Amino acid sequence: MARIDGETLSLIAEQGEDGEIYLTYFGPISQTDTAAAPSFNRLPASPDQPVGPVLLPMPGRGFHGVASLEAFDLNARQVFQAAERQLEASDGALTLTARDPGLGLSLVQTLRFEADVLVSQARLQHSGSNPIVIQRVASALIPAPDWASEVLTHSGHWGREGHVERRAWTVGRIGQIGRGGRPGFDGGPTLTLTEPATTEETGRALTAHLAWSGPFQLSAERQSDGRGQLLAEAVYGPGEWVLAPGDQLTTPETWLALSHSGFNGLSERFHNLIRTRSRPVERKVHFNTWEGRYFDVDEASCVALAKDAAKLGAERFILDDGWFKARRDDTTSLGDWTPDPERFPNGLVPLIEAVHAEHMSFGLWLEPEMVSEKSQLFAAHPDWVLGHPQTSLPTGRNQLVLDLALAEVRDHLFEVISKLLSGNAIDYIKWDCNRDLYPATREGVVRAQAQTEGLYALLERLTTAHPGVEFESCASGGGRIDGGIAPFVTRFWTSDATDALDRVRIQRAASLIIPSEMLGAHVGPSPNPMTGRQIPMAFRVLTALFGHLGIEADPAKLTEEERAVLARGIALYKRHRDWMGAARLVRCDGTDPDVSLLVAEDGSKALARILRCDTASHPVMPRIRLAGLEPEAHYALTETALSGDPAEWPLGTFSGAGLMGEGLDLDPIQPQTGRIILLEGQTP
Ligand code: GLA
Repeated sequence: MARIDGETLSLIAEQGEDGEIYLTYFGPISQTDTAAAPSFNRLPASPDQPVGPVLLPMPGRGFHGVASLEAFDLNARQVFQAAERQLEASDGALTLTARDPGLGLSLVQTLRFEADVLVSQARLQHSGSNPIVIQRVASALIPAPDWASEVLTHSGHWGREGHVERRAWTVGRIGQIGRGGRPGFDGGPTLTLTEPATTEETGRALTAHLAWSGPFQLSAERQSDGRGQLLAEAVYGPGEWVLAPGDQLTTPETWLALSHSGFNGLSERFHNLIRTRSRPVERKVHFNTWEGRYFDVDEASCVALAKDAAKLGAERFILDDGWFKARRDDTTSLGDWTPDPERFPNGLVPLIEAVHAEHMSFGLWLEPEMVSEKSQLFAAHPDWVLGHPQTSLPTGRNQLVLDLALAEVRDHLFEVISKLLSGNAIDYIKWDCNRDLYPATREGVVRAQAQTEGLYALLERLTTAHPGVEFESCASGGGRIDGGIAPFVTRFWTSDATDALDRVRIQRAASLIIPSEMLGAHVGPSPNPMTGRQIPMAFRVLTALFGHLGIEADPAKLTEEERAVLARGIALYKRHRDWMGAARLVRCDGTDPDVSLLVAEDGSKALARILRCDTASHPVMPRIRLAGLEPEAHYALTETALSGDPAEWPLGTFSGAGLMGEGLDLDPIQPQTGRIILLEGQTP
């Protein structure tokens, strides 16, 4: 028997006499070592030696679920057979090995807890003598808990991310699949098993998140006899992985969070893990030029914007698209990363100095993985793109993708970006990626995985060489939000939708995995450029307040009243952002009003935000129930208003039990209004 323990969870496995490795327990921390291999009945018309809930499942013994590995010898066409298996526990990790001595191939799966998340990863080691084709290998594949009877995935498209799809899971396969080469707008590599009663606050749920920015698949698969499995893996194209003798292949990690306290319990674990992976930074208030000016940027207009933005409280000015050579729209110039001589005749330095004079730092938009056909880079290196040597390649947003598996492409990008960073005081790069990979081949060979590995290698090199620079992951909005890229970035651009009503949903969905302080949330213009909706400034600010706050509108087009509300919201954000960056997010049940809290790590204070999106359905019972507080504790409540006088006022002192029980008589009845309340724990 072998076991590993997290902070609140245990996992126990045991090797049976039949050689199979059984998952005997995965749940709240176990005080005993007595978990036994579950008995699995021999059924009529079924195998005589039934295989129960195993780890490293393989075909060949009457188990017809998805296997951990599908691989075969290219010469002899022998398939991998796990003739030898081993289970070990050491240094807090379980190591499971399945070996085929004939092929000389070993599959080594490790499981360990990190921040109370079960981290699963597989490695293939080839010590045979023939090339082996790896069709697929699971990063994580575990038996589903008995209680799992629903599956939760996400859907979405550009500007409309964050739709939860919850389906009954009786039999068959439900998946979250992304073949586009970046995680995509539909929620990325995440899939959750739940019981029907699970909500934000209560019930059991198990989520798998593949920490990987390339093609992926996650699935919940249940056979007719009731056996269910949860799978997560990178997807390999035909022939993409052929291991030569001596080669190794390591899969991305899968993060498995198990909660007995609803989806909030999942998020708490994922957030804690991501916070250990990503670099902690001060959350400067951003000003971004995109929705204020789009491609129409030059030195004079940006200096004016910077002055205005600083007055509102912005601390970092980000020059978005349109700044580089000949870029007037999205048809041209990607790859030519030098300032446009007409718009920035003296380079970026004068603007950066003007930005610094306003006590802001300077950030820049780049889309390094891409090249426009109309560019000097493409003219010089037409063979650097994915799809080469195919002529007439399909474009997306008029652009092609550079082949990052090529060392000379990575070297070129490293040098160009390093030159920009050394020649200009830039402390932030908004790293965009505005199309999928198609075709993800070079000379007919699939290389989507190599593209993602190339991206990580380039980011690793850049972040090491320029430790003072922060990077943001953007892909036409929320197209690349995943744990694989988290070590290289400090922020995700959550969506191109800045419409505050859409954002409430989008940020709630993204916060399942990503901590709030890493989710870029900007106050946009009104009417909103995407939806045309005119949403009150206070509601826009409250929506952005629980993310990494920024402004993405031309301040000159704001009314005096809007400016005042925004400035007050920014001041509120600055007052609380330090502890908010390590806070526990609590999403209360129900979505309208959308009630959520950020609770300080030490529990001493919290901010509760209440957003009424639509007309209240029960206006005569206007109570707001909170969650995630200490029932025994007492909290002094202060409400803050983003406009008018007084700016704040006390609401009284209440017990945690009362706030979470009957709640407060506080519901904002009008649509598109909200409230923000500070809770401070009282010492008895
Ligand atoms: C993408 C990003 C936007 C903006 C534009 C610029 O769509 O998501 O925020 O940077 O590119 O072209």
